[in-house]
Amino acid sequence: MSAVPQADPCNIVIFGASGDLTRRKLLPALARMQRWNLLAADSRIIGVMRDPSWHAERWQQYVHASLEEFHPDAINEADSWQTIAAMLELTIGDLTDASMYQRLRENMKSSNGRTNALFYLAIPPQWYESAVSALHQSGLLDESDGFRRIVIEKPFGSDVASARALNLAFREYVKESQIYRIDHYLGKEGVQNLMVFRFANTVFEPLWNRNYIDHVQISVSENIGVEYRADYYEKAGALMDMIQSHLIQVMTLVAMEIPVSLDGNAVRDEKVKVLKSVRPIPPDQVDRFAVRAQYAGGMIDGKRVPAYRDEPDVDPASTTETFAALKLYIDNWRWQDVPFLLRTGKRLPHRVSEIAIRFKKPPKNLFSQVKTQLPQNELIFRLHPEEGMIFLLNAKLPGLNDELRKLALDAPYAVTGSDSPEAYETLLHDALLGQMALFSRADEVEESWRIVAPVMQAWKQPGSIRFYEAGSWDIPDTETIMEGCIGCWRDLSTTYQHGYTSSS
Ligand code: BG6
Repeated sequence: MSAVPQADPCNIVIFGASGDLTRRKLLPALARMQRWNLLAADSRIIGVMRDPSWHAERWQQYVHASLEEFHPDAINEADSWQTIAAMLELTIGDLTDASMYQRLRENMKSSNGRTNALFYLAIPPQWYESAVSALHQSGLLDESDGFRRIVIEKPFGSDVASARALNLAFREYVKESQIYRIDHYLGKEGVQNLMVFRFANTVFEPLWNRNYIDHVQISVSENIGVEYRADYYEKAGALMDMIQSHLIQVMTLVAMEIPVSLDGNAVRDEKVKVLKSVRPIPPDQVDRFAVRAQYAGGMIDGKRVPAYRDEPDVDPASTTETFAALKLYIDNWRWQDVPFLLRTGKRLPHRVSEIAIRFKKPPKNLFSQVKTQLPQNELIFRLHPEEGMIFLLNAKLPGLNDELRKLALDAPYAVTGSDSPEAYETLLHDALLGQMALFSRADEVEESWRIVAPVMQAWKQPGSIRFYEAGSWDIPDTETIMEGCIGCWRDLSTTYQHGYTSSS
């Protein structure tokens, strides 16, 4: 860890400090950074919240409880906790109240004559513009005495028009280089390793195109349900919640050309080119390219779970999709006619996330003992449960027989004794260092809304939604979008041991 740079002292201001994101993700990530010496001791963690019943002591207890639950090492090491506790400040007040910003300014600390600030908007999206406008009015976005950056959570807009309007509004108050639109999938080790794998090795680049790749499957399967988030999820659904952001972002990293450097704009220029090349889904053919379904009741890990429509705060006649799959084509020289299949859902049997590159079959099968077709080669980047890479090849089983078997080359990323950072830790650290490559630019967000727009439009029309039993992979119609691809959807419950697999 010694080579990892420490960020300059900074006021990390969290709007929405009493919310779930702060408790589960941001505070543990900051505590981990502190433990790894990535956060300067002169930094401050300033919680901003509206509720006047909060006070400094309650904020401290809240942070303590969050770390106890999500990063207990920070509590067990007395020094760590004391250092973090000393960084805590609280500002109470309404986002639209000018006097709150005055108090916030007083709580901000200067170090070496500079007052850096990272404003993290962990608040409902409808408040983004007011918060940024008020920060601007109060002069807190002025960078003359230090950097001032804004980190924004998804969803950024709810369609092309609203994302564009938000981008235009922001442009009045801040420069694009001050805006860090966060997509936590880009902070995952496995996703970053995809770039290293592609751009630090020569061996795969010649294969990385339409001549050798049949199709790409990007899957994120969750076993949790909607939990306590129905209010948001009812309006979002799986398409907006996961595909428009995380899965499309991951797809751009698989498909992008080699950037000229790892500089934020160089990487994002290449990602935008991919997004702009995505073939529009014809509005009258959405069913050929997209599938949606909703979970009914079922069993997960031996426990009965309710149907989505029976979850708290969900409309009993809701047609919100909890599973979505999409087939996209990227119309450029590298990827013309190669399907990119994206799928995600809640209440599926397991929590698994992966990117699978399925290669074409050999032009001729010389091995008569293989009655059907040779299994295709697959390169799988696992993001969850274990991060790593698996390469599936065909090989001869040792011995005097002539049997062929699938051979799994399994390379887990984790090194014994290493402690992989959490996505939010990586991204907060990058934002503090001013590194923008893992954050979405304005045009990226607008382009990804464009890609899903025809599907969103079609799914708004009255129509029936299909159902799947919670805990099962039996989802109606998913095979229809596999048309033209070799094989079928990958079975995400398969686990691979290094070596020969039992299936041929
Ligand atoms: C969030 C979605 O962005 O990502 C959630 O809003 C989803 O619905 C979560 O559960 C999944 O993230 P991860 O890192 O657990 O795969």
